[in-house]
This record gives sequence, C-alpha cells and structure tokens, in this order.
Amino acid sequence: MEFSGNKTDTAQGKSSLNTSAEASGDITTSKRFQIPCCDSGDLKMPTHVAIIMDGNGRWAKKRSLPRLAGHNAGMKAMIEATRAASDWGIKYLTVYAFSTENWKRSQEEVGGIFKLLIKYVESELRELHRNNVKVNVMGDYEKIPAAALVKLKETIETTSNNTGLNLNIALNYGSRAEIIRGIRSLVQKSLQELRELEISEKNDSELKARLEEIITEGSFSRELYTGDELGNIPDPDLIIRTSGEERLSNFLLWQAAYSEFAFTPVMWPEFTREEFKKILDDYSNRDRRFGGRK
Ligand code: FPP
Repeated sequence: MEFSGNKTDTAQGKSSLNTSAEASGDITTSKRFQIPCCDSGDLKMPTHVAIIMDGNGRWAKKRSLPRLAGHNAGMKAMIEATRAASDWGIKYLTVYAFSTENWKRSQEEVGGIFKLLIKYVESELRELHRNNVKVNVMGDYEKIPAAALVKLKETIETTSNNTGLNLNIALNYGSRAEIIRGIRSLVQKSLQELRELEISEKNDSELKARLEEIITEGSFSRELYTGDELGNIPDPDLIIRTSGEERLSNFLLWQAAYSEFAFTPVMWPEFTREEFKKILDDYSNRDRRFGGRK
C-alpha cells in the first residue's frame, strides 16, 4: 500500500488521494481516500501527537468478525494516521501498538498482531522511507517474536537517517516498567559518580547535595525510552484515545505531565483523516499555560 503524500504534496500543503487502495478494491481504505481531506491550513500544529489506538476488538465484534479482523482494520487506520501526520508536518507520532499487559490475550490474538506487524513493515517500508519517515520503536521490544523483531530492526536501520516524521511505535511498552528501568539506570550512574567523587555514604549532607545535582527531572527524563535512546523526544503535546475510553492505561505517564487530551468515541479502525483533523482543530484553540498564568 502506498503513502499518499510525497514531499511535493506536503510542501504545497495538499492532501493527496491514494488510488492504489481503490484499485485493489480495498473498500475500507479506499472510502477514506475519496474524501479530499485535509489541509493543515493555519492550525497551530502540535509537535508531538501520541495515540492510544483503542477499539479494534469492539469494531470487529459489532460486525461479527474475529478480533484479528479488527486489528487488520486498525493497522490500516494507523497507516492513514501516519500519512496524515507526515503530510501535515507533525514531527513526532507515537502509537501504542502493544502494551506489556497485552501478552495476557490469547496466543492466537498476540501471534496475529505480530504477524500484522510483519505485514505492515513489508507493505509500508518502501513508502515510509520515500516519505522521509524515521521509524523508532520504544519498549522492551527485543522480547517480541523473532520474525517480527528482524523486520522491525530492518525498518529502524533503513529509515535511521530520515529527517521527516518520527513514527514511534510503542511495542511491549509499559510506562511503569519504563520508569522503574529509568530509576535503576539513574541509581547505577549516581553510585558510580559518588564513587568517583569519593563521597562516603556517611557524609549525609554532601551525599544529599550531590544527589540533588545528579538526579533531576532532566537527567531522569533522559533515562526513559523517549530520552537519550531516541534522541530526547519532546513530551507529547496531545494524547488522543479512541473508543470512548478515558484513561492512560500505562502510557507515557511521566511524559504526559502537561499533555492535552482528546477522547473520541470513534473506534480506532474508523479513525479517519477527518477525525484527526477535527481533533487538531480543537487542540489549536486550546490555551496551554503549563501551570503558569498569562
Ligand atoms: C486496542 O484495541 C488495540 C491493540 C491492543 C492493538 C493495536 C494494534 C493495531 C492498531 C494494529 C497492529 C499494528 C501494529 C503495528 C502491531 P482492543 O483490541 O483493545 O480493542 P477493544 O478494547 O475494543 O477490545
């Protein structure tokens, strides 16, 4: 499947239509492309949008389809959201594709999601690369099935020098685990530094002063997946969750401190470019004060 927006289209602020979906008879996808939506116009665009793609199962159930059909449709929605973000010049798009808790689902569903991931990479890598998209993965993703891991690593490697949209796929991701991992790493570094400075643990006031210097919001942020590992991604400006659920579900807990939230009742497979644009319109009118006053 092709990406719609090439670099020329983006520069002109045009959204373009994908005809390959229509040609392949893919009704779900082609319907989306028939609507010429949407210019980013004068919107105040967020730098970083994060999405909790929820509702694939319910979408499928309503149609008496297996859950995996919902994930397949969800993958198409993810492709379209990525295209839109790239066309609109959004710099970071983080998608919650598989959480640390999702392993509790049936083997069939888990296996199916990773097969979909392989299918996604096989069908999209060329277009992602041509559109200058850089793919990153965040989470304990070395634990995913080997075949999916190989494909992912190939994707990360191929797109590593791209400078357009950063597509961050959260895989085997859990925010609490991410925080604990960050704490462990920072404590280790702190101990090392204290040893080098030869500060005795008995010297309470000296110890406290040094730790206040070493352990800061900034140094802790750099230990998270979104930190040094991925080039210090700015915190999400906007977090979208579909399907009517209104919670974070262990997603970007630290990074969401000042994020705006948008909840939509739309099930993820039905999340279109138009819905995305509506949310961005609304975001554009919000007044963000980060705890301060005007
Ligand atoms: C949440 O819906 C969705 C997921 C847990 C999986 C997300 C997967 C995709 C969007 C497609 C696969 C793409 C990749 C890149 C792996 P749910 O199943 O929790 O829906 P429900 O709450 O209605 O049951």
